[in-house]
Amino acid sequence: MNIALILAAGKGQRFDRNIPKQFVSLNGKPILAYSLDIVEEMEQIDRIVIVTHPAYEQTVREMGEKYKKTVMVCEGGSTRQESVFNALRRMKEMSSFFDASNVLIHDSARPFAKNVFHRVMEKLKTEKAVVPVINTKDTIYVIKNKKVVDIPCRDYLFNVQTPQGFSFSMILDSHAKAAQQKLLAFTDDGSLYAAIQKRQPSIVDGDQMNFKITDKKDRILAEYYLSHGKDLSR
Ligand code: CTP
Ligand code: MG
Repeated sequence: MNIALILAAGKGQRFDRNIPKQFVSLNGKPILAYSLDIVEEMEQIDRIVIVTHPAYEQTVREMGEKYKKTVMVCEGGSTRQESVFNALRRMKEMSSFFDASNVLIHDSARPFAKNVFHRVMEKLKTEKAVVPVINTKDTIYVIKNKKVVDIPCRDYLFNVQTPQGFSFSMILDSHAKAAQQKLLAFTDDGSLYAAIQKRQPSIVDGDQMNFKITDKKDRILAEYYLSHGKDLSR
């Protein structure tokens, strides 16, 4: 069974302090609903888990009721890593109900992820950990204490996106070990997996359009694309 784990427990501090960005509309549809629509339509996805802040649990439950796939809503934590671990543990507790073999972990802040979902799902047929990446457009400097300490070759630098796909037992084990070892600063699951399992995830092509809505300029850009281009959620 393949489960989509949709992360919606963040506060969106860089976006707007009044409302978490996943509930903000893009051309009349909440950002979170874009991801839910994608996974609802994907044949290979069996169930949907949404992680949310308790204050928005009711809102999310109501949104989830519109979907035919079983939607479980669970409580997130104070960091992204904690939110994912909480959800994976809940899924394990409900194993008779979920019986997950693979999980695709996705930031709801990336509404235009359809193509990438399909690529990750395909690769997951033969791999245990799959991460979508795109080559960085900018040159990147490593700066510490206002001093440039390294300028890595741009050809080797890639931005990491979601969804990231994993064997369920492997990523649950990785999160449990990270928590045990008090390694709590991972910002994505691929790097947590790599650090704990001492193995590198497989990669697939991400998509330039699968950008993360982080601040208000990203919303303007997303609405512009939606109004002027193809339907990016397709
Ligand atoms: N997320 C989560 N639980 C947290 C923090 C983040 O589920 N405690 C989710 C967010 O909802 C988002 C994704 O992880 O879909 C990526 O995080 P980010 O873009 O950083 O979103 P926020 O943490 O909400 O935004 P900010 O960092 O600006 O506060
Ligand atoms: Mg954040």
